[in-house]
Amino acid sequence: MQQLTVALILLALASGVSAGLGCNHNNCQACTADPLCGWNGSACKSRILGGCRGDGGLINGLLLCNPYQCSTAPPVYNENFAKQLWQLQGAGKVATSDPGFAGCVNAADPSAKFIARINVTCGVPLPIDRCVTDLYVLPGSKTIAAISLGSEGTSQLVQVLGALTLSFLDLQTGAVIYWQTAFNSLWNGGLQSNLTALLQNSTYADYTFVSSGHSLGGAVSLLITKAVADKGWRGPDAIQTITFGQPRLGSVALQNSIYQKAPHHFRLKNARDAISSLPFQAAWIEHSKFPVYYPIGMNSTGLAAKIICQTNEDPACTTLFQVSDLGLNYHNTYFNIDNIETWHNTNCAY
Ligand SMILES: *[C@@H]1O[C@H](CO)[C@@H](O)[C@H](O)[C@H]1NC(C)=O
Ligand SMILES: *[C@@H]1O[C@H](CO)[C@@H](O)[C@H](O)[C@H]1NC(C)=O
Ligand SMILES: *[C@@H]1O[C@H](CO)[C@@H](O)[C@H](O)[C@H]1NC(C)=O
Ligand SMILES: *[C@@H]1O[C@H](CO)[C@@H](O)[C@H](O)[C@H]1NC(C)=O
Ligand SMILES: *[C@@H]1O[C@H](CO)[C@@H](O)[C@H](O)[C@H]1NC(C)=O
Repeated sequence: MQQLTVALILLALASGVSAGLGCNHNNCQACTADPLCGWNGSACKSRILGGCRGDGGLINGLLLCNPYQCSTAPPVYNENFAKQLWQLQGAGKVATSDPGFAGCVNAADPSAKFIARINVTCGVPLPIDRCVTDLYVLPGSKTIAAISLGSEGTSQLVQVLGALTLSFLDLQTGAVIYWQTAFNSLWNGGLQSNLTALLQNSTYADYTFVSSGHSLGGAVSLLITKAVADKGWRGPDAIQTITFGQPRLGSVALQNSIYQKAPHHFRLKNARDAISSLPFQAAWIEHSKFPVYYPIGMNSTGLAAKIICQTNEDPACTTLFQVSDLGLNYHNTYFNIDNIETWHNTNCAY
C-alpha cells in the first residue's frame, strides 16, 4: 500500500513536471489556464523554465515569476483629452488663488468648475509629505475629474524613491504601501465625502468619472478608480483612468480586480521615463494596462510614433530602468512642455 502511494506520487510529480516542460499550448489563454505553464510574451513555457516576463527584471528570472498576461483590445484612446488632464496637473502645482491656477483650468476646459482640493499629510515611513487630489466638474467632456498630483519637494521624492526600489506591498490590498497609505489619507481626508456628494448628485448622473494622476498620483489615481468602482457609483463604461509617468502599482490580483470593474485605463509613458520603470519587475508586482508608449518623446513627431500595447507588461512598451534616465526631463515633460512645476507661469499653454 505504501509503495503504491509512493508510486502514485512519483507518477503525479513526473506528469506534472513533464506537463510543465511540455507546455505545448499555442495561445496565451490556454497556456495561462495551465498552472504549470506561463506565457513568455510569444510562447508557452514551463513556469519553472522560462515562462516568465522575460525582460530582465532583477528578481523576475526566479521561480514562480509572473508570466505575461494575455492581450486584450484597448478602448479608444483620446489624446486631446489626455492633454486637458495634463493641464489640470499643471493647475495643481499652485495655490488655487494663484492666477496660474485659473489660467490652467481655463485652458483645460473653459466651462470647468473647480470643486475641492484635498491636501493631506501622507508619507512612509515618515508622515511628513503632502498628497493632493483636486476635484472638478468638466462640462466640456461631461466628466467629473479627480486629479492626483505627483510628489512635491525633496523629502517626498526621497520617500517615494524608497517605495520605488523597496516595493513592499500592503498585505490586504496588494498595493505598494506608500501608494496605499497616500490613497487612505486622501480618501479619509475628504475625498470620500466629496466624491459621494458629486457622484451621487443626479445633476451629474450621465457624467463619466475620470481619475488621473502623475507619478505617485498616477498610482493613487488607480486606487481611487478602484474605490469608486467598488462603491458602484459608476459602471465599467463610465469610469476612466489616465495616468502620466505612473510607477508599478502592486500585485497581479489587484490589477485584475481593477481591470474587471474599470477596464478603461491608459498609462502614458514618455520615452525613457525612469519612474514608470519602477519599482523593478518582480514576481509580486505588475504594471497596469493599457500602456501608451511614446518611444521618442512627445513632440509632434513623437506623438505620431506612439505605441499602444495590449497587455500590462508588453515588452514593446517597456524600457529597462537606467539611472541615467532618472533626471526629470522625461518624467515632468509630458506633451513636450518645459516642466510641469512651472507650466502655470504660461497658463499651461501648449
Ligand atoms: C519565448 O520563448 C520563445 C520560444 O522559446 C523564444 O523564442 C522567445 O525569445 C521567448 N521570449 C522571451 C521574451 O523570453
Ligand atoms: C498643501 O498644504 C500645504 C500645507 O498647508 C501647503 O504648504 C501646500 O502648498 C499645499 N499644496 C497645494 C498643492 O496646495
Ligand atoms: C468637500 O469637502 C469639504 C471638506 O471636507 C467641504 O467643505 C466641501 O463642502 C465639500 N464640497 C463638496 C462639493 O462636497
Ligand atoms: C447637485 O449639483 C448641483 C449643480 O452643481 C447643485 O446645484 C446641487 O446643490 C447639488 N445637489 C446636491 C444634493 O448636492
Ligand atoms: C522631435 O523629437 C525627435 C526625437 O527627440 C527629434 O529627432 C526631432 O528632431 C524632433 N522634431 C521636432 C519637429 O522638433
